[in-house]
Amino acid sequence: MLTRWLITLLLTINVNGPVGNLNMLSQLFHYHSRLVRTRVKRWLSELEASKPLEPSVPDRYVALYLHIPFCVSLCKFCHFVRYPFNEDVAKKYYKKLIEDVYEAYSKGFKVNEVYIGGGSPSVMPEMLGELIDVLWELWKARISVEVNPNDVVERSAVEYIDPKKVERISMGVQSLTREGLKALGRASTLENTLTAVEAISSRGFKTFNIDLVWGTKLLMKGIRKAFELGANQVTFYPLMPFPLTGAKGEAKGFEMYEEIVKEAFRKGFVRANAWTFNKGFSIVDEYIADSINFLGLGVSSFSLLGNIAHINTFDVSKYLSSNWFPVEHSKRLSLSELRQFYLAYKLHSEPPKSLGEAGWYLGVITLREMYTVLGNFRIRHLVKLSPKETRPTRRSPQPKPLASPHS
Ligand SMILES: C[S@@+](CC[C@H](N)C(=O)[O-])C[C@H]1O[C@@H](n2cnc3c(N)ncnc32)[C@H](O)[C@@H]1O
Ligand code: SF4
Repeated sequence: MLTRWLITLLLTINVNGPVGNLNMLSQLFHYHSRLVRTRVKRWLSELEASKPLEPSVPDRYVALYLHIPFCVSLCKFCHFVRYPFNEDVAKKYYKKLIEDVYEAYSKGFKVNEVYIGGGSPSVMPEMLGELIDVLWELWKARISVEVNPNDVVERSAVEYIDPKKVERISMGVQSLTREGLKALGRASTLENTLTAVEAISSRGFKTFNIDLVWGTKLLMKGIRKAFELGANQVTFYPLMPFPLTGAKGEAKGFEMYEEIVKEAFRKGFVRANAWTFNKGFSIVDEYIADSINFLGLGVSSFSLLGNIAHINTFDVSKYLSSNWFPVEHSKRLSLSELRQFYLAYKLHSEPPKSLGEAGWYLGVITLREMYTVLGNFRIRHLVKLSPKETRPTRRSPQPKPLASPHS
């Protein structure tokens, strides 16, 4: 596979120049997808077959990822570990996470970057506020928080997120058309989403990011508006399919991507990485983007400490009764595995200039395939633990099967 990939890459550059002919490019994209998918699958199955190891405390700074796995309603397209919100369980979970954060501090972890993701951390705003205070008091690190529009509107979530402590807030918008939201099985309406955008804008966060999903003709409608809402960062994720979305292939991924990029540039945004666009000052804070070491706390989180990767339990009850680090599997990475991991992120943020726009699209494909395999892995664990959690909940409109992008 690697040989085929290399030959196609060389032919694409040498015979056709950086933009290549479309046939050659789509072959390159195809081989690249397969190569990344195969490697990540192999890596994950080796991890799954390994026993847990004690985490080490690196002497350098780490990024801290905290996972809050609860949402008021579950969207069908979402491949993260999330369970229906239950106030009692979520409160216990938040308390345990705060204990774990103190424990990480007392073990000597030095943190310079924190990402609170989910699920929807905004589902319990008071507890989120408490967690942010603790993190700020301990490390004064750069904090980034994910929120859901309905929580912003119905639970005043943003009132509990202090812009003096939180540098970046990221909201899931997903689509700016009613049809798009319906197809994704979102419970948040377009009206709530726009009200939430205003509420966040008025709080003055340094970076206000919105997430959208693209990759089907329907989802491409309304992409223009994403750059006009006042957010100074827009992240456009390619829809990552997995069997439960009932996804079927849709071609023209590269053309769709180019359309988004052109629109971003037209509106004065610059590209921070293959799928994030910034206007003026804003930080890119996608989990682990440029930290070699990261510590993941909470269910389903990954860590990379030194050359050892760890994955935590997916089970909330197990987590609540666990010791500090509820790790289920650990794997020692070889130098070449570490290099591949680093190169994947590098390709996503700084592809070789000689490849032009195709290089950026290779960056999109790399992380799309990595995250798709990871998403499938997470959903597989979720189905095992609780089959219901993969279905959209009562509040969500019933989605039609989604078409998925194709390189
Ligand atoms: C963990 S979610 C948190 C967002 C927040 N809970 C919300 O209201 O949507 C982070 C982002 O992952 C992206 N995402 C989730 N599932 C995806 C999938 N299957 N394909 C592409 N992007 C996905 C969405 O854009 C989402 O905003
Ligand atoms: S995309 Fe939907 S299901 Fe996924 S974390 Fe956000 S609100 Fe929850």
